Amino acid sequence: MTDRAFSLALTQRPRRLRRSASLRALVEETVLRPADFIAPLFVIEGEGPPEEIASLPGVRRLPIHALVSECRELWALGIPAVDLFAKVADSEKDAVGSVALGDESLVARAIRAVKAAVPELTVITDIALDPYTTHGHDGLLTEDGRDVDNDSTVEQLIAMALAHARAGADLVAPSDMMDGRVAAIRAALDAAGFEQVGILAYSAKFASGFYGPFREAVGSSKVGTVAGPADKKTYQLDPANRREAIREALLDEAEGADILMVKPAGLYLDIIRDLRERTHTPIAAYQISGEYAQIHAAAERGWIDYERCRDESLIAIKRAGADMILSYFAKEVARGLRH
Ligand code: PBG
Repeated sequence: MTDRAFSLALTQRPRRLRRSASLRALVEETVLRPADFIAPLFVIEGEGPPEEIASLPGVRRLPIHALVSECRELWALGIPAVDLFAKVADSEKDAVGSVALGDESLVARAIRAVKAAVPELTVITDIALDPYTTHGHDGLLTEDGRDVDNDSTVEQLIAMALAHARAGADLVAPSDMMDGRVAAIRAALDAAGFEQVGILAYSAKFASGFYGPFREAVGSSKVGTVAGPADKKTYQLDPANRREAIREALLDEAEGADILMVKPAGLYLDIIRDLRERTHTPIAAYQISGEYAQIHAAAERGWIDYERCRDESLIAIKRAGADMILSYFAKEVARGLRH
């Protein structure tokens, strides 16, 4: 007996189940597995070596031969899918992103190479024009150059999606945030006999400051420095808006999206959870470049523990309700997990 002045007559002591690692393992609610991940990969022209990206440590731009070996490794680690992004030379760009189209585009060739080498790996491709336009916007500008024109952009996105489908993409992922593009892409895929090619829609994509390192990776950081709107706020969502995000996602679902995506992930866990409670459609979350870079940067300074914070950031996204996570950590995390 202690001579404490109070007594806690507790029937519940939740700490009992946290006493040992084995008890904690028994009550663990959320577990990461390699099959939760989609690896975003950057592809470039040429036969040369991979290129480092200063603001994305450990991520490299890969020529097609290196992309293929990377995909073999990811598949062997149990990662079911990759999402391909292109970086083309500035000299290849124009106002309408012409090099994104056609059957010989960089991404079309990359899809064919990956599908030939690792046929079972799910290949997803980004559908947006920002890596290919001189102004860095996701679509075509209006005549006065002050806005991104919705309907002509959708037309261009359809052409891009069809080219990727012909090359063998399993899912196309429109990341542009134009209105009506999911229904339009769905109809075009169906009409061309690609009923089985799915749409992973970037449904709730916010105008985030954390996209910075990605824009360096694909060379789209010119936004606001040449003709066109100063930023992407005329098409991406306002970070302040929760209802609008759900409205966007439910519209994409009604238009035929197979998977709904929330992006960024870590700062938008409430949106993932809201959406989880309102739909039975699978949800993807994109842990974006800035989320990855800030964990690296803080760990490099010794301010946080790298692996612990990395894993915590991913568990939080899954716990919020994401069925799958796009993350630049995919490969190293899968390597550390059993499958
Ligand atoms: C745009 C696009 C962006 C990302 C993927 N596709 C960002 C942007 O709007 O510039 C960001 C991914 C990341 O930051 O990791 N089509």
